[in-house]
Amino acid sequence: MADPKIKPAERTVASTQSEMTEIILPNDTNTLGNLLGGRLMHFIDLTGAMAAYRHARTNVVTASMDHIDFIQPVRLGNLVTLKSSVNRAFTSSMEVGVKVWAENSRTGDVAHVASAYLVFVAVDEEGKPQAIPRLIVETPNEQRRFGDALLRRRYREKEHARRKEARKATPERDDPTTNRE
Ligand SMILES: CC(C)(COP(=O)(O)OP(=O)(O)OC[C@H]1O[C@@H](n2cnc3c(N)ncnc32)[C@H](O)[C@@H]1OP(=O)(O)O)[C@@H](O)C(=O)NCCC(=O)NCCS
Repeated sequence: MADPKIKPAERTVASTQSEMTEIILPNDTNTLGNLLGGRLMHFIDLTGAMAAYRHARTNVVTASMDHIDFIQPVRLGNLVTLKSSVNRAFTSSMEVGVKVWAENSRTGDVAHVASAYLVFVAVDEEGKPQAIPRLIVETPNEQRRFGDALLRRRYREKEHARRKEARKATPERDDPTTNRE
């Protein structure tokens, strides 16, 4: 049997692919019978974490979730399927892509309703970042996502630095208890 303490140096994208299907029940919806955005984000976070966990095989935490477009409403009774895989692994962090489809359970019609990119960081028991295996990309689509993930990382880093500077310049702007009367 393989020793679980010996971690492989690399893993394929295919080995990280994860999927989850949920039926949308009344507790998941707003007063119009549409899936709540926050509930969908929760499903996205969970499915993303599955792919990150399969890559890192250790604790992972969500470091960020990029902009999400809710392309069309998901209705009560729909079946929602989410698919995820790791796009690129860096040192301790990895970008995961999640795509979401809704299926009308009566007609069987399926529509793409949302997509998101998340960054997960592998951490030890104290919550300190730890190194993860290298990601092996095998198909043209995987290569494209691998390249794009680096561009998004550079964008996130720039945005992070910009927000940090803005907070330093006007700390009261981020205080949720002010200017919200
Ligand atoms: C994510 C976290 C572990 C990073 O810890 P840190 O001490 O700031 O780590 P570092 O600055 O050394 O960065 C470690 C890695 O995380 C990445 N990272 C840190 N903050 C990030 C962010 N906001 N977005 C994307 N990546 C981030 C870094 O790029 C780095 O990646 P690399 O090792 O692949 O180059 C820490 O901020 C944390 O625990 N956050 C809370 C996570 C959480 O609770 N999530 C649930 C949300 S409710």
